This record gives sequence, structure tokens and C-alpha cells, in this order.
Amino acid sequence: MDKRRIADRVYWMGAIDWDRRLFDSLVPLPDGTSYNAYLIAGSEKTVLLDTVDPPLAEKLMAQLTDIPRIDFVVSHHAEQDHSGTIPMVLERFPQAKVISTPKAKPMLIDLLKIPESAFITVEDGETLSLGDKTLKFLHTPWVHWPETMVTYLEEERILFSCDFFACHIATSDLFVIDQGRVYEAAKRFFAQIMMPFSATIAKNLEKLQGYDIRMIAPSHGQIHDQPAWIMDAYREWATAPPRNLVVLPFVSMHASTEQMVHYLAAALVRNGVRVERFNLAVTDTGKLAKALVDAATVVIGSPTVLGGPHPLAAYCAILANALRPKTRFLSVIGSYGWGGRTVETLAGLVPNLKVEVLDPVLSKGMMAESDAQALDKLAVAIAQKHKEHNLV
Ligand code: FEO
Repeated sequence: MDKRRIADRVYWMGAIDWDRRLFDSLVPLPDGTSYNAYLIAGSEKTVLLDTVDPPLAEKLMAQLTDIPRIDFVVSHHAEQDHSGTIPMVLERFPQAKVISTPKAKPMLIDLLKIPESAFITVEDGETLSLGDKTLKFLHTPWVHWPETMVTYLEEERILFSCDFFACHIATSDLFVIDQGRVYEAAKRFFAQIMMPFSATIAKNLEKLQGYDIRMIAPSHGQIHDQPAWIMDAYREWATAPPRNLVVLPFVSMHASTEQMVHYLAAALVRNGVRVERFNLAVTDTGKLAKALVDAATVVIGSPTVLGGPHPLAAYCAILANALRPKTRFLSVIGSYGWGGRTVETLAGLVPNLKVEVLDPVLSKGMMAESDAQALDKLAVAIAQKHKEHNLV
């Protein structure tokens, strides 16, 4: 892809990663992704904002071949999908200085071995004149690393937000044209990397309220030329109470646990509670993470294997614990053959979740009438808790 104009002497650059299907060896990318860099040519100085993931470095370097000079490379975020090609850019433009937050500087030195002399650090709110264009740097910590910042181009009212408001979609569309598709992808993105930092995300959103933003140019996915809706969506994901929703991640070996999940889901729906169920043996964990953004209750379904939870259920508990959703209630259901510590082990894996644990339901072998009654009781208890907390 060639570089593309997005405003007067402001260009999208970067690489579209059509075939990538996994990020950080963890995050599924069903629609690929892009690594967006941007070039701003002021009347006196030229700046490159971020770079691309090193495996695609050549794509960016090709776009820079006809650029005579770069004075500054802004690094909004030290993670290598944006910073990894800075050393190559510095080789081509040795006079360029790297602009980062004071926190990012040692990280970039550690991660990329960029020499200390190449850096200029900027304080929160500091500005840089490119001649007829002005950059304002805003520190936005924990979006989603401690060193992150964004840049506001004052004359064009464009916010360069890096991971903030981004999503993983590979597309030839420069701007958002299908809001529904981008909403889904952005919510997945939020769930998988931003949700643990919802409190600081909310503070950073507040900080941005003072700015007149015409366009948000993130470093993955498309550019928001109608930025209000994505900012509203972030506000809701980060701060709104969870929904009247039970997320039911489960794994089953011989159908006993699956039968319980099926029964509980029906009982919940009868009691007016929405349900999303995920078979952990086949699910896309991005979809599960996205559902956790809204889940008031999580019920993990697991058989007992070798005295404890099935490893996929344990993985799910560890993932939920790391993502720190706003979930308020937790329970465990499942089957066992001769005993074990499934409930205690799963409960011990989620210390970060500030949840009330509701009575688990464990069935010996296939579900009996008494287990069905216990599941009915659990469904009623969940519905009641959701009502008491006014969750809709
Ligand atoms: Fe897109 Fe946190 O890197």
C-alpha cells in the first residue's frame, strides 16, 4: 500500500497485515490487522508518528523512500508493533530525534537498544512546532502500558491515539465506513488489552474532553472521521455497570457438564437473564473476552479432571482474572466422578475479580433431579442479584 493523504500534508503510512491470525501468541485476529504510522510535513519540520511491526518494516521503508528528511519520530507506545521499526528509520534518517514520554525512553532503550542520545522526552501538555503545524503531546498512561501518550495536531484537530480507540481489522478502507463492524472489533480490542485498566482509561477519556477532535487516527484499523461514537463506546465499556448478562464459559468431556450448562442457560432465560455461552474447546477467546465487558455474572462449567478443573476451564479463569471485567457474581457448575477440588481451585485463580461467589452446583456423573433443582435455584439467585443491583 502506498502512503495516503488524510489531511493537508498529513499522510497515513504503514502496513496492512492481512494474514496475521494471532497477536502476542494470545489474541486471535480473525480479520488480520494493520500497523498505522503517520507522516506530518510541516513548513519547517517533518515528523513520523510511530512505525510498524518489524516483520513488515520494508513496507514502511518503501513509503519513506521519497521523503527527503525526517526530523522527529514520535513513539506513542513502546510495544514493538509500533516502535519496532524505529531503529531502521533512524538508520535511514540519522539526524531524527525520537520523541517519547520520560517513562517510554528507558523502555525503548531496553527493548530496541536505541541510543540515549537519540531521545527528546516530552512532558504532559508540551507542544512542538513544525512551522505551520503544532503537535501537542498528552500523556495517557496505561493505555495499555504505563508509558503511553497521544498527540493532538492542533491546526487539523486530529488526535493520533496509537492503541487508544484502535481495532484489529485489515482493510483497504482508510476511514471507518462500517460502524457496526468496527464497533465489534474495537470492543474485542478493548476487552483484550484495555479492560484491566478501565479506571485509567476513564481518566484519559475525561482528559480528552477538553479537545475539539475532528478525527482520531489510531495505530491499528481505520481512522475515525466521526469520532464521537467510539469515544462514547469507550466511556460505556470502561465505566457503565455490567449488564443483566451471564457469561457461561464451559468445557465438557462426556456431556455431563454440557447438559448442566444447557439446563442453567434455559433456566436463566426463563428468569429474564440474558446468556452467552462459550464452549472453551472450540471458542474464539476474543469473543469470550468481548462478552466479559458486559457480564454481571460468570458461571464457569468444568468437569473434574485428575482432581481439579479441566485445564481449559483453568485457562479461562486465569484469563478472566487478568482481564478484570466489571463482573460482580461468580459461580461454578460441573460434574465429577469420585471427588476433587474443582471449585476451590477455580475460585483461587480469580483473586483480581471483586465478585460474590454464588453456591456452586456439582453433579456426580450425569445430572440428577436434585442437580436440576440446584441449577434452578442458582438461576433464581442470579436473576435476583441482578435485579437488586438494577442491572439491565
Ligand atoms: Fe498495538 Fe500495545 O500495541
